[in-house]
Amino acid sequence: MVAHVTQDYDSLAPTREDRFSFGLWTVGWQGVDVFGTAIREPMDPAHAVRRLAELGAYGITFHDNDVFPFGADAAEREKHLAPLRAALEETGLIVPMVTTNLFSHPVFRDGGFTNNDRDVRRFAIAKAADQIDLAAELGAKVFVAWGGREGAESGASKDIRAALDRYAEAFNVLGAYVLEQGYDLRFAIEPKPNEPRGDILLPTVGHALAFIGELEHPELVGLNPEVGHEEMASLNFAHGLAQALWHGKLYHVDLNGQTGPRFDQDLRFGAGNARGAFWTVDILENGGYDGPRHFDYKPPRTEDEDGVWVSAAACMRNYLVLREKVRRFRADPEVQAAMADARVAELGRASVGEGESLADVRAAAGSFDPDAAGRRGMAFEALDQLALEHLYGTR
Ligand code: GCO
Ligand code: MN
Ligand code: MN
Repeated sequence: MVAHVTQDYDSLAPTREDRFSFGLWTVGWQGVDVFGTAIREPMDPAHAVRRLAELGAYGITFHDNDVFPFGADAAEREKHLAPLRAALEETGLIVPMVTTNLFSHPVFRDGGFTNNDRDVRRFAIAKAADQIDLAAELGAKVFVAWGGREGAESGASKDIRAALDRYAEAFNVLGAYVLEQGYDLRFAIEPKPNEPRGDILLPTVGHALAFIGELEHPELVGLNPEVGHEEMASLNFAHGLAQALWHGKLYHVDLNGQTGPRFDQDLRFGAGNARGAFWTVDILENGGYDGPRHFDYKPPRTEDEDGVWVSAAACMRNYLVLREKVRRFRADPEVQAAMADARVAELGRASVGEGESLADVRAAAGSFDPDAAGRRGMAFEALDQLALEHLYGTR
């Protein structure tokens, strides 16, 4: 364990090496919600790029229609892309991920890839293919697929098995296209249990992992888990990340905050379940993930543009503060002693020894004293209290 040189919290500032990225749709969110109209002016994507660069971000991500209008022809697309390219060039920001909007226009009222209307499904596949071409042109390595409108509100309306056939078909067709074109691009499915649909297909990390295994090119498809989405389903987000890593499928991540199972709050990172955020940063920093630390959040409707930039800076600061806390926790000798007492590392040892047979294991069980073992505590509370003391700042 390398001794950690502590950084004082005031000196923490985001650098390009931290690889913080933001969706244009986050800082650009105009605050429209079910109960209110836009409260902030539309944000010019090039302006967002420049401001995020000033704050210390290294990249931006976007849906096609965050930058050019739905239905734009090639000339109009280029008219909107040109100032974005210029701002990227000027600031040195990159585009690690792009995605396509298959949920806003009324044509997607029943989804895109799994719409009951076959013509809409074909249109959605074509729209995604266009954005895949742009992804390759911009050097994006990940194409996120959030199927927000893929789902149902009622039982008879959606044949789920047929919907999964069509969903798989879309990924198979688009995956084959990426291979044909030789693009250096992978797909990252973003699970969500509900909202806007009553029930969304592929609602959690687990459902998406099972689905990926059935595709023709599973190696091209991984996950973009989002904090709030797993927590909307009352799941442990850090565990979801760990399982995605275990499958080698953590291709991207959407970081934000959520306070329990309710609507998708998309709070700034660190502003929801703080204990969960601590373990999220721990697994991202120590679990082998090598991708962007991407924020998908919505500056609350209460904020003006100044408040938008305060919240964007706070996403990055909260990540850096938690990363420093995690580093101090992992470097703390008392923690290492408490980890040993809790026999955490013993889980890394295979249960069946080299050359041992099941018969050997069964024979050994005869001399095992379950009552004696059952009397031994696991010493987890002492360990977790040390983690909380680091989180609370009392250590
Ligand atoms: C949501 C989702 C979206 C997606 C984005 C990228 O709940 O609205 O999180 O923000 O992440 O559309 O596909
Ligand atoms: Mn979300
Ligand atoms: Mn998201």
